Amino acid sequence: MAACPRIAPYLTLLVSISIFFSSSSCGAAAGNLKDDFEVTWAAENVRFEDGGEALQLVLEPSTGGAGFASKDYFLFGNIDMQMKLVPGDSAGTVTAYYLSSETSNHDELDFEFLGNSSGEPYILQTNVFSNGTSGREQRIFLWFDPTADFHTYSVTWTQQRIVFLVDGVPIRVFSNNEAAKGVPYLNKQPMRVFSSIWNGDSWATRGGQVKIDWAHAPFIASYRNFTVAESACVKATSAAACSAQAATIPSSTTAVGEQQVDTGRLQWVESNFMVYNYCTDQARYPIVPLEC
Ligand SMILES: *[C@@H]1O[C@H](CO)[C@@H](O)[C@H](O)[C@H]1NC(C)=O
Ligand SMILES: *[C@@H]1O[C@H](CO)[C@@H](O)[C@H](O)[C@H]1NC(C)=O
Ligand SMILES: *[C@@H]1O[C@H](CO)[C@@H](O)[C@H](O)[C@H]1NC(C)=O
Repeated sequence: MAACPRIAPYLTLLVSISIFFSSSSCGAAAGNLKDDFEVTWAAENVRFEDGGEALQLVLEPSTGGAGFASKDYFLFGNIDMQMKLVPGDSAGTVTAYYLSSETSNHDELDFEFLGNSSGEPYILQTNVFSNGTSGREQRIFLWFDPTADFHTYSVTWTQQRIVFLVDGVPIRVFSNNEAAKGVPYLNKQPMRVFSSIWNGDSWATRGGQVKIDWAHAPFIASYRNFTVAESACVKATSAAACSAQAATIPSSTTAVGEQQVDTGRLQWVESNFMVYNYCTDQARYPIVPLEC
């Protein structure tokens, strides 16, 4: 277990609350993937390495995919994972890294990495489900080769907004528009962290034109250094237990982890790397979605 990173500076002013957070919010802080995650799909293709310091998800034809999920539920927090994506010919593969509440009106935050032919760029698709409603896809190219090394993919999730980040650069913001516009926000349902790899060749690469080439299997995505900080709730027992714990947070701390968004860098991503934004897809949404 690593030390708890990034405690909000203002918390140090609030001594009792600071104790509350430093004891409960760092429970799942970085470390051993074998302790933090359980296999959800194809145990033989979820490989814990170095005693759980690293993990590989393997896609090969016999199982058609593999996946894992965190044992803990989280409500709010800074949640980071380092990933290295399938190298070489990854066309048709989808590697998904996401948070989900798994309920009928579920909340979900998605990073979906759409593979490509050797040398062609991956697409990173993000999506947000709130209270069961989604259809909020955005797609970007990355400014580096995500198969060459590990990079950090993060969600910072507070009462005010959710920011998706890549290596600390904001790529997307979903703000809390519940009071202002009646758009349900992700503030009630604890979520678990999931990842899976599967064959998405009906749609993933060039709109489904490029199929998976099983001659190039196994396709392997790698993970390390999962870190959670400043979470209002970390519970391994159940989502309900997490909600109950979060409900005990003093209202004076509703600004948990309040953050500044680097809008300059966000605009840099949007101008240079964005290839699709549901907010500007008028054929699909003749009426612009409220949160856009
Ligand atoms: C979430 O969806 C349920 C069922 O559709 C609805 O009853 C509830 O009012 C919704 N919540 C919000 C905050 O919109
Ligand atoms: C794959 O590469 C092609 C050609 O560069 C590009 O048009 C496409 O957006 C890339 N990504 C996916 C997922 O198809
Ligand atoms: C592990 O992740 C934390 C949080 O993102 C980061 O501060 C730290 O530098 C990472 N460690 C390594 C070895 O990359």
